Amino acid sequence: MSRIVKSDERVGIELIVNGERERVNVGPSRFLSDVLREDLGLTGLKVSCGMANCGACTVLVDGTPVYSCITLALDCEGRAITTIEGLSQDGELHPVQRAFVEYDALQCGFCTSGQILSMTALLEKNPAPTEEELRQAMSGNLCRCGAYVKILQAGMNVNR
Ligand code: FES
Ligand code: FES
Repeated sequence: MSRIVKSDERVGIELIVNGERERVNVGPSRFLSDVLREDLGLTGLKVSCGMANCGACTVLVDGTPVYSCITLALDCEGRAITTIEGLSQDGELHPVQRAFVEYDALQCGFCTSGQILSMTALLEKNPAPTEEELRQAMSGNLCRCGAYVKILQAGMNVNR
């Protein structure tokens, strides 16, 4: 449940970011994207539209993709947040990251962290999606470079 905080107040909250407990001070209107990028230095997520249109800022909160540019940090108190920096393990790329490399599923890369996180969330729930299910799950992540065909190829060929 959200707590009530005055507009000029800052409160300390704990976020669990990529498995680590992080303490941050936030005001009531601070967005999660800003806390992650500016306070914690996790710049893999990008802020493009800043208004819930493109998905470049996607991170996972308790395993669910969210647009961090419109998610209040206060609402994430105590929750588990995964950013692109948290996907690789022991120096090994996550299988979805490997598929993006293998299928050359990016151009400028601005949308890529969000695309990978949305795909990862889908595959956690549905390891063998149909192409239609994949398209549906990725529909909130836009790519200005138009890398959609290769992104879909990567998604249909993730070796886990
Ligand atoms: S930057 Fe958040 S949806 Fe576009
Ligand atoms: S790779 Fe450039 S916006 Fe998607």
